[in-house]
Amino acid sequence: RNNTFVPQGDTTRPKEVGPGVSITQTQAWFDLIQHVEEINNTHLRDLLQDEERCASMFLAAPTANPYHVRQGDREDMKRMPKAISSGALDSHEDYSQSSLILDFSHQRVTQKTIELLLELAKAAKVPEKIAAMFRGEIINKTESRAVLHTALRAPRERVILDQGKNVVPEVHAVLDKIKRFSEQVRNGEFVGATGKALTDVVAIGIGGSFLGPLFVHTAFRTATDSVQEDATQLPPQKAAAGRRLRFLSNVDPVDIARALEGLNQETTLVVIVSKTFTTAETMLNARTVRQWIVSKLGEGPPWARTVSRHMVAVSTNLKLVAEFGIDPVNTFAFWDWVGGRYSVTSAVGVLPLALQYGFHNVQSFLEGACSVDDHFHNETLSQNLPVLLGMISVWNVSFLGHAARGILPYCQALAKLPSHIQQLSMESNGKGVDMEGNPLLCEAGEIDFGEPGTNGQHSFYQLIHQGRQIPCEFIGVVKSQHSVFMKGEPVSNHDELMCNFFAQPDALAYGKTEAELREQGVPEELIGHKTFSGNRPSLSILMQAVDPYSVGQLLALYEHRVAVQGFIWGINSFDQWGVELGKSLAGDMRKKMTSVRANGTWERDEVGEGLNPSTSRLL
Ligand code: F6P
Repeated sequence: RNNTFVPQGDTTRPKEVGPGVSITQTQAWFDLIQHVEEINNTHLRDLLQDEERCASMFLAAPTANPYHVRQGDREDMKRMPKAISSGALDSHEDYSQSSLILDFSHQRVTQKTIELLLELAKAAKVPEKIAAMFRGEIINKTESRAVLHTALRAPRERVILDQGKNVVPEVHAVLDKIKRFSEQVRNGEFVGATGKALTDVVAIGIGGSFLGPLFVHTAFRTATDSVQEDATQLPPQKAAAGRRLRFLSNVDPVDIARALEGLNQETTLVVIVSKTFTTAETMLNARTVRQWIVSKLGEGPPWARTVSRHMVAVSTNLKLVAEFGIDPVNTFAFWDWVGGRYSVTSAVGVLPLALQYGFHNVQSFLEGACSVDDHFHNETLSQNLPVLLGMISVWNVSFLGHAARGILPYCQALAKLPSHIQQLSMESNGKGVDMEGNPLLCEAGEIDFGEPGTNGQHSFYQLIHQGRQIPCEFIGVVKSQHSVFMKGEPVSNHDELMCNFFAQPDALAYGKTEAELREQGVPEELIGHKTFSGNRPSLSILMQAVDPYSVGQLLALYEHRVAVQGFIWGINSFDQWGVELGKSLAGDMRKKMTSVRANGTWERDEVGEGLNPSTSRLL
């Protein structure tokens, strides 16, 4: 099918965005609109023959991964290997020092497209916006907040200002507190009300207070690489021996039953994670689990003591936490300059993960994220991985008209990456207006979905190969967390998985022509069904391994890429008014349910009062 999408924009053509000037009016935007036709006349089948083009779209990650460089000085390891930007690719180049590789040669772009996209980034003042974010300027204007999740993983000696105040000492004070507390719980110094060790943790939270930590937990569970050669610094899987971490997010009682199944109150520590400490679902779950604890360990006052031994909290709202009965000593703060979906590297993720895997593993995760922060902050646009990723997404969404994006990790440990990115990207960039509140003049934001490969191949890939065009992101891993090589099998199990990772992008790009099918003797009546148009864009991210450091890198890569997209579209990627509405919507229904419960009547006239006939009947 030909691409019939018509990108929006107008032809005023100033050089850059400014007061009253949208990015869609700039010369750079107009140049890209003109360029779409050129790209519509290409096919990936041909583009992929161009060696120079492919080499220019292959970039090695900003840093080496300490897990994979066992010898040498740690500082030395942190030196940035040069990203490969142009010139013929030396096929003997050694990438073993690169923690991560990005290949976007399977995108529907030429080198000219990339040049034009980088011009667009300049016109949108992306470098200035990145600098403003790191400087702590109030870039989340609708909530009058800075956006400083990068400060959460900054080294102790760094100075990062929020309204003139250096926030790094506070960040490290909380990290130190988590380190102490998690060690006390893990070594049995901090015990439950009956003196038993707290071996199980239930983290209660929803949205950003759940999805990021779940993603990281899923990635760590089977990770076997250690932080250092030091035997005390056990790798995540070993460090978690004898411990359990569960998440409770949904207010559905079924989720409660599942989260608590098989747990003993005496050995369970509950972490309530809520930035606001007012989210209805989280608070009801917290009260329910508090009841579960006190019903066994002691009812009524002085149950507060029981609560303080079995419940801790992560929040910005310390007053409400104390009112709930949680000991302020066991409360872990974060700040309003951390958005919910950007909060994994705050106590939101650090506390439950440190309890389960030991603080050292989480520290390594923070270092990985920080390495990408530094790269994003300092690297030139053409070598900047989050910038390139963001610009490619803008191209796909706003110029080629692709509404969706598949996030497809070929790695079971990354199974929860798609759901985390779904919130990160869709809550951030799912907006209809720009910073000034004016309706957007172009398509923006994408529908993210995904499942690990190869599972997805046996599910929704049919649509991706022959139905709609959906840019796909394949994420693969060089070294598996677990190696299995069965005697008599030609390849290892991980090789088998990776063969699919390498094959899919080509299948999408090349497709299968009618001529090829006829040559293979396919009956005429099946030619149409078996034809693949190809020319379907994808990109590949190849990680050395899934260990705490690289999980931190992957997380930050996606966080910054989302921000870049928002910077181009001129939207506020850090508020979420659309979801805030949902928080109050259930309120009226709750009042009705309350009166129904109190009066014991389901009379339609009474219950449905004030509602439309449809909702009234359903209720
Ligand atoms: O669902 C909207 C949202 O505001 C998310 O952005 C946030 O991560 C989630 O609710 C949970 O909020 P809180 O951490 O305040 O409970």
